[in-house]
Amino acid sequence: EYHGATVTRSPVVTIMGHVDHGKTSLLDYIRKAKVVSGEAGGITQHIGAYHVDTDKGGVTFIDTPGHAAFTAMRARGADITDVIVIVVAADDGVMPQTKEAIQHAKASGVGMVVAVNKMDKETANMDRVMQELAAEEVIPESWGGDVQFVPVSAKTGLGIDDLLDAISLQSEMLELEAPTEGHAKGVVVESRLDKGRGTVATVLVQSGTLKKGDIVLCGMEYGRVRALINDAGQNVTEAGPSIPVELLGLSGVPVAGDEMITVENERKAREAAVFRQGKFKELKIARQQK
Ligand code: GTP
Ligand code: NA
Ligand code: MG
Repeated sequence: EYHGATVTRSPVVTIMGHVDHGKTSLLDYIRKAKVVSGEAGGITQHIGAYHVDTDKGGVTFIDTPGHAAFTAMRARGADITDVIVIVVAADDGVMPQTKEAIQHAKASGVGMVVAVNKMDKETANMDRVMQELAAEEVIPESWGGDVQFVPVSAKTGLGIDDLLDAISLQSEMLELEAPTEGHAKGVVVESRLDKGRGTVATVLVQSGTLKKGDIVLCGMEYGRVRALINDAGQNVTEAGPSIPVELLGLSGVPVAGDEMITVENERKAREAAVFRQGKFKELKIARQQK
């Protein structure tokens, strides 16, 4: 049991919904950023993790793709979150990945907020969206249910403050605390091999403080943290609970969903990684022999 210092950590809020219903646009508005305009074909293909200081305090947003092919990313997003925001375009209504997102939210058991987006459009129909979601057993508070529906527009900014209010209301009900000392623990949100920088893992720190120079074990990989880069692309020396960072210095590319922990020394980390790699190989061979 650990008795050291704890902090109130920021809520981790995952944004989910059907393709092109405006998830990234909403986050762009909240962050005053322009991610959507840089995406190939306007389609999100990765999980994005951003820490934002809002008027209601810090919030860590996880942006997920809405394209049908990315079920695993949505499931992972639902797995690591405190609150789920389901985005539904008011002109399009409930679509297949809206339903899928609802299933992830229900399976994860975390609080849900519905953002009914594109309310600026003439064809927007809030009532229809409410009916369609009620048919999926997502019942608006205004109809006696327990889910807050917030009409918003990522284009005009309508309702964004209300959405942030709804998120902070959901988060306040959870006592979100985490230790800041002791071993750091987190989860790999995304990973890749970068030509210039080597292995890059986007890690969401969940407890403790991850520091540059720490030895980490991350799935089947290990290494000394060579650099930590925040969501604004800046080098930082450490990252505490609920903060997403890019971690450089791992022996290989970990798998999204892998756990990351700090360990005392490099020998222990290497041994554990090698042991896991061996187990993985055994498993693979056993499968091939079947
Ligand atoms: P995927 O990540 O690919 O699933 O899409 P997304 O849900 O992130 O949607 P995205 O933010 O890429 O927006 C899709 C399109 O809808 C873009 O052309 C946006 O400009 C447009 N859009 C998003 N929000 C609004 C809105 O509130 N009003 C209007 N009129 N258009 C919007
Ligand atoms: Na899109
Ligand atoms: Mg997107």
